[in-house]
Amino acid sequence: MNVLLIGGGGREHALAWKLTQSPLLGKLYCAPGNAGIAEAAELVALDVSDHGAAAAFCRDKQIGLVVVGPEAPLVAGLSDDLEAQGILVFGPSKAASALEGSKGFTKDLCTEYGIPTAAYGRFTDAASANDYLARQTLPIVIKADGLAAGKGVVIAQTQQEADAAVEACFEGAFGEAGAEVVIEAFLSGEEASFFALVDGETALPLATAQDHKRVHDGDQGPNTGGMGAYSPAPIMTEAVCTRTMDEIILPTVSAMKAQGTPFRGVLYAGLMIEDGAPQLIEYNVRFGDPETQPLMMRLKSDLLPVLLATAQGRLGGMSLEWQTDAALCVVMAANGYPGAYEKGTEIKELDAASADPKAAIFHAGTARDGRRVLASGGRVLGVTALGTDIAQAQARAYTAVDAIDWPGGFCRRDIGWRALKRGA
Ligand code: AMP
Ligand code: GLY
Repeated sequence: MNVLLIGGGGREHALAWKLTQSPLLGKLYCAPGNAGIAEAAELVALDVSDHGAAAAFCRDKQIGLVVVGPEAPLVAGLSDDLEAQGILVFGPSKAASALEGSKGFTKDLCTEYGIPTAAYGRFTDAASANDYLARQTLPIVIKADGLAAGKGVVIAQTQQEADAAVEACFEGAFGEAGAEVVIEAFLSGEEASFFALVDGETALPLATAQDHKRVHDGDQGPNTGGMGAYSPAPIMTEAVCTRTMDEIILPTVSAMKAQGTPFRGVLYAGLMIEDGAPQLIEYNVRFGDPETQPLMMRLKSDLLPVLLATAQGRLGGMSLEWQTDAALCVVMAANGYPGAYEKGTEIKELDAASADPKAAIFHAGTARDGRRVLASGGRVLGVTALGTDIAQAQARAYTAVDAIDWPGGFCRRDIGWRALKRGA
């Protein structure tokens, strides 16, 4: 079967790397891809915001499954338009993508179906938002309702910060995404990422993972897309996973079905865990980046048949096998990220760094210039390794990081610290 993978980050490189191991795979295409994905797939310059062009490509290349990596094409309705043309897609409909596309939608769903999440209010004007704010305690969390590339969340420690965040949203700092604001109570605890494949009715949990959102060691500095991740996450004990499925994932799956907008794809719950109780921070309707990199290294089963079964509503009775080994991914980013960063710096010694068969270097923001590999994005590489435990996976990943010659980039040196503190 020919597959078209959409996206060009580390998540997509990990998916491409895993898909090419499938005996069911014919040809893999990727739009737009990156220099690493080019080793596994044919890169195509396809504008996926043109749904007609995407459908024509799929017919021409006899694509049996389209796998959508990022959220933007899903929220724009790519799945709906391709499926209307009879093309099978892994990734939810536009209506079901509201779980990520509108934080207010998800919060209301949680209220209606008793799913644990922080108390909140939804606002479309500053006066009522400020009125609500005046009655809350600090810290308080202010969020743009729509997609804001991970930048639309402010944890305000003071009333001034809260007021400024509300004002920024309504003044257009996040464009349309900030036309509505969600204000919610601050949750304390430890965060974890939980992924489940969902075929509309059935949910199949994946292995657990945890990422590091802050840019500096010790979880300091501004939020990023994710500076590293590992799997499994020791905080996600079997009991916490069971509660997450029973109290959060399964009620969401049946709610979406009951509302006539069944969810098909991968549901990514950002969780806050306190005293063994999970609460939903947010949903994403796609795989996590960088969590996918360690997950794909740990997945023993063939990925293609389960993605296909998810899209076709046939997940019931399926299961997945995972390596008992842990995996850990260190993200290397361009100097300056997540602020303004330099593009076009050369990265050397990638082959030497990936010589260890238990390590893989997933490209996130790279482009090839002849024989040279150049950085072309903020997050640039995801150096990932397996180990008998998190400590060994971490040591291997940093050995590979240290073999890379890239003065234009940096990474955190403490990926996995929470797990190591727990003795994992
Ligand atoms: P989100 O984009 O909703 O995942 O928010 C980004 C980050 O902000 C999360 O990963 C958390 O670290 C933090 N965050 C969001 N909402 C809350 C909350 N209600 N309480 C505490 N932290 C939060
Ligand atoms: N790792 C965070 C995200 O994928 O949104």
